[in-house]
Amino acid sequence: MYFDIAKQKFENLKNKDDVIVLSVESSCDETSIAIIKNGREVLANVVASQIDIHRLYGGVVPEIASRNHILAISNVYKEALNEAQISENQLDAIAVTYGAGLVGALMVGVNFAKTLAFSLELPLIAVSHIKGHIAANYITEKTLEPPFICLMVSGGHTAVLNITDYNHHELIGTTVDDAAGEAFDKVARVLGLCYPGGPEVDKHAKLGKSDIKFTHDIMTDSLNFSFSGIKTAVINYVHNLKQKNPNQELPINDICASFQTAVVRELATKAIKACKVNNSNKLVVAGGVSANSFLRQTLQTECDKNGIKLYFPSLKYCTDNAAMIGSAAYFMIRAGQGLSDLSLTAKPTVAL
Ligand code: KG4
Ligand code: ZN
Repeated sequence: MYFDIAKQKFENLKNKDDVIVLSVESSCDETSIAIIKNGREVLANVVASQIDIHRLYGGVVPEIASRNHILAISNVYKEALNEAQISENQLDAIAVTYGAGLVGALMVGVNFAKTLAFSLELPLIAVSHIKGHIAANYITEKTLEPPFICLMVSGGHTAVLNITDYNHHELIGTTVDDAAGEAFDKVARVLGLCYPGGPEVDKHAKLGKSDIKFTHDIMTDSLNFSFSGIKTAVINYVHNLKQKNPNQELPINDICASFQTAVVRELATKAIKACKVNNSNKLVVAGGVSANSFLRQTLQTECDKNGIKLYFPSLKYCTDNAAMIGSAAYFMIRAGQGLSDLSLTAKPTVAL
């Protein structure tokens, strides 16, 4: 009964003038609910971050993340409705991140969204977290439309994608080992910096010189990435310094600047190459690492040199948030995709 009603409403949304989506994101350590109009207008985007809790442990503790999502989600929901000044009966659909992410954390968001969809008799839209990160750019740049090349750089994924339209893409390059964000977090940990490591490394790198050579293999003949070599070179460098002189302070700023330069060079080289190979003059960056100041600066210089227009999400939409999920859901709804029944479950991995 529920699904018949949801299916009919979903069908009607393809041509409705205005579509208002309530979206839920809980894949890692942010509990977020947003309300998005027509895929690009953010009426509310409430994010309850657990960073301060996980910082005590040096990284995200999955069990603690799930528990804190449960504690936060109802209030985040009420706050989102309040911020958007919208009542439940004005909503057209409920969207949720079903993967990739921590399975226990995802389950909280998925169950919350299923309950809402059922009780409000609204279509439930299952959104991939990765698709959400790409859509963060549609919110930031209202005129951005596919096709374009996307450099996806998050804590869990690093890839280049050929985005052919809102709902189709082709994977043209991927990391063969660590994701870029993962490498930032691991290096930060070795240097004794706080979680999450990316913003800390970015901050210290601004104060340092990038003159330490962290040699690693660059796969020059493909669009694939590798970051574990750079990471291991940093770890070995730190261990050597500590062995030689245990009392000497580590040159943290220089290590951060040199590591970041090596990672950004790899990302920028492959992203520009992907644009050239695919004859594209539009490069869109997505995921948490797109907040990195040196990546932004380097890509801007390279894109200007090569006549490529560059897009980044605004900083608040770089890391995890529900607004990007609501945006992705809107474009799925318009194409008649993504409708799920109440058997939807959380998936720790989703194919790129
Ligand atoms: O996209 P995201 O919020 O979560 C995933 O979907 O994985 O990305 C989180 C990642 C973390 O690894 C974090 O250290 C990294 O993004 N990050 C950064 C910066 N801000 C966040 N990495 C480098 N520089 C930054 N400024
Ligand atoms: Zn993310």
